[in-house]
Amino acid sequence: MPTVLVTGASRGLGREFCRQYAGRGWRVIATMRDPDGASPFECAGIERFRLDVGDRGRILELARELEGNAIDLLVNNAGLWAGDEEESFGAFSDEQWMEQLRVHVLGTMAMCEAFAPHVAASEKKLIVQISSGNGSLSREDNPSYYPYNSTKAALNMITRGMAFDLRGKGVTVVALSPGYVATDMSGPDADLRPEESVSALCALIERLGAADSGGFRRHTGAVYPW
Ligand SMILES: NC(=O)c1ccc[n+]([C@@H]2O[C@H](COP(=O)([O-])OP(=O)(O)OC[C@H]3O[C@@H](n4cnc5c(N)ncnc54)[C@H](OP(=O)(O)O)[C@@H]3O)[C@@H](O)[C@H]2O)c1
Repeated sequence: MPTVLVTGASRGLGREFCRQYAGRGWRVIATMRDPDGASPFECAGIERFRLDVGDRGRILELARELEGNAIDLLVNNAGLWAGDEEESFGAFSDEQWMEQLRVHVLGTMAMCEAFAPHVAASEKKLIVQISSGNGSLSREDNPSYYPYNSTKAALNMITRGMAFDLRGKGVTVVALSPGYVATDMSGPDADLRPEESVSALCALIERLGAADSGGFRRHTGAVYPW
């Protein structure tokens, strides 16, 4: 039975990843900031752990707690977005930008460093970063959301670095864009339901191999231009 660890599993895409992998019979390790406050999963057997990905000390502690557990797939999903106005020129706050840097970049980096041994010890050896088309430098219709876009672009950059650094351990690291999905982040009018996005992402993840490492793809599987 393969194992997946998901960050930001309290709601939205993270929660849906847990639901779908549990449905496929995987062992699911759902990490979230407030496991007591999050609503229960409909399906049984999902293990919950407290984890704020901005807290490197807690990441290291959890990695020690899970020592000896092979993790086939690490999904670095936790993320945040401040809102149209709060992300725009002249209106964003340094605090919000720093928080996104802490979660999207430093948190993802710390997760990968701490859990690389667990992933390398598994059969599938996959790390997936839930990035965003907003992190694409070449997307011409990209609205200027400064904290979000820049930290997702940085997430893409560290993904390439880690793909190179972990290649020797046989670990594949990719950045995936989930599409525009109706979660708390994007609101109810977005294009895709979480079930649709995650089911497409799971199908794509199943096809990923070493040759894909360091890449950036849409949920459809198409290569996303950097
Ligand atoms: N929805 C879209 O259209 C869209 C598009 C492109 C990319 N994405 C990316 O997809 C990922 C999931 O987003 P979503 O749409 O599911 O958003 P969401 O519904 O707002 O959920 C965000 C999740 O991230 C968690 N989180 C935030 N900060 C955290 C931290 N410091 N430590 C641990 N967990 C933290 C939240 O936990 P709490 O419940 O504790 O706040 C929540 O579980 C994000 O990385 C986002 O950038 C989404």
